[in-house]
Amino acid sequence: MRGRFHIRNAMIEEIKQIREQALQAIERAATADELEQVRIRYLGRKGVFKDLMGRIPQLSAEEKPLVGKESNLARKAVEQGLKEKQAQLAPGKPEAPKEIFDITLPGNRPRFGRLHPITRAAYELIDIFARLGFEVVYGPEMELEHYNFEALNIPPEHPSRDAFDTFFIKDDILLRSHTSPVQIRTMAERRPPLRIVAPGKVFRRDTPDASHYPVFHQIEGLAVGDNITLADLKAVLDIAMKAFFGPDTRTRMRPSFFPFTEPSAEVDISCTFCHGEGCSTCGGKGWTELLGAGMVDPNVFKAVGYDPEKYTGFAFGLGIDRAAMYRFGITDIRLLFDNDLRLLNQL
Ligand code: PHE
Repeated sequence: MRGRFHIRNAMIEEIKQIREQALQAIERAATADELEQVRIRYLGRKGVFKDLMGRIPQLSAEEKPLVGKESNLARKAVEQGLKEKQAQLAPGKPEAPKEIFDITLPGNRPRFGRLHPITRAAYELIDIFARLGFEVVYGPEMELEHYNFEALNIPPEHPSRDAFDTFFIKDDILLRSHTSPVQIRTMAERRPPLRIVAPGKVFRRDTPDASHYPVFHQIEGLAVGDNITLADLKAVLDIAMKAFFGPDTRTRMRPSFFPFTEPSAEVDISCTFCHGEGCSTCGGKGWTELLGAGMVDPNVFKAVGYDPEKYTGFAFGLGIDRAAMYRFGITDIRLLFDNDLRLLNQL
């Protein structure tokens, strides 16, 4: 027993000495570097305290806790001493900022997005027609042959029904070749009076060139009621075109043919580039074609169960892409689909 107590006392004595030496070394350290050396010598991975802990398992069960406790106390004292001295060696020194933010430098200009010219044109047209009392409705881009053709009085032998001109998905389903099927869908659901516009994408198997693209956009218009005349159509289009292209804009109607309107017209606007003088954009004519329009054909009314003796109506289909081109001075429709920011940033 004595022997063991002797060992314990010797170790406790040793721990007290270590603690004293460590605290003195801390006291003597004149720089942060020197202090760090002291820390490593005593508390490091191969330091004095580590060595002490390593020897504890060899002690007896009674000695272990006593020596362990003394060792822990000494270690805590040394840690505390180090901490105090560290504070002394760097009194009040602020921590270096992680990132320097110089408020005098010019900022990074955020890049704002904006609406695509086609979207802008569509929104503006919708807005204009809404002010004239037209409600906005939408139809599917994938359409039944019945709505795209039959109900619109387009006979089977009509060239626009050719698979060569349209994108058929199945025998009776295709990508709509115009927005006119929305006329049918709307009339089939409602009773007159009605005034609607239907904007959206349409699809035709055209090879892209300066004025053709296989996907483009139309806004369809339809008004049905008791006493609707060609004069109403002319007035609505004239007002709308002046609102969209500017008050100097003139409109004119030329006789034309569509199976779903009678009489039918092509509607031109005075060229926005030369104001009717004649330039290279309008091919010297001073006018540019923008719409198909006419009075709703009685056969269309019959297809949706309206009495053609009771109601009359007008319809029009306007190319949004072309309107955007004339409005924003773009001479090639393909530019609208290239997504080239050099063009889009100018608009
Ligand atoms: N749907 C016709 C086209 O795409 C345009 C049109 C619409 C004509 C409504 C008359 C009435 O060419």
